[in-house]
Amino acid sequence: MRIDKLIANSTSWGRKEIKQLIKKGMVSCNGKIVSDAGFHVDETSDEITLSGERIVYSKYVYLMLNKPDGYISATFDKHYRVVTELVPSQYAHYEPFPVGRLDIDTHGLLLLTNDGDLAHRLLSPKSHVPKTYFVRSSSPVTASDIHTFAQGIDLGDFTTMPAKLVPLESDTNESLVTICEGKFHQVKRMFEAIDNEVIYLKRISMGNLTLDESLPEGECRPLTDEELQNLIGE
Ligand code: URA
Repeated sequence: MRIDKLIANSTSWGRKEIKQLIKKGMVSCNGKIVSDAGFHVDETSDEITLSGERIVYSKYVYLMLNKPDGYISATFDKHYRVVTELVPSQYAHYEPFPVGRLDIDTHGLLLLTNDGDLAHRLLSPKSHVPKTYFVRSSSPVTASDIHTFAQGIDLGDFTTMPAKLVPLESDTNESLVTICEGKFHQVKRMFEAIDNEVIYLKRISMGNLTLDESLPEGECRPLTDEELQNLIGE
């Protein structure tokens, strides 16, 4: 890989600035100053430094987004704003995409990455990765609803797998729902099936990745090493 590309992929410097840094002799490979921006390096073994600081190359980016209302889970759309517009510019070159979909009006945890294998593993119907949502519904959740969710609900086109419904003690119009599938409008349809209506929906976890409640809505941050290791080991 070209050294300027590696630096561009691993730092927030732009290509033009990187050329300048190279011209100024601030970049080295295995201890030798590099003067050519097109110099080829082995990103897995060469030690690249910029102003004496080692550059750690990473092929993938893993971002946690606290999705707000009004964005669709796509990378491009003619009519609607898309979640990738919320990705800070320093990560844009990775071209991350959303792992799965949240409805336009659903809030909360959305993982964005360019790691197709991980996305595939998390989304595969065979993986049954649990997803937990906070739900505010128009009517209170009852003991019978809990039972219905646990049994699985026939939604016409498919029967849901057993789901966990836990009303919050403070307010039974609020509950936590855990499903191990990810069918279109699934939580909303499950509430419809018990003659209730979802009026606010927020995903709070996916597998062992939990939404960082200190992350403001509309913002993204890279996963910590621990979050990533837990997720990859999923
Ligand atoms: N279930 C829904 O109904 N909508 C979502 O966005 C996610 C799960």
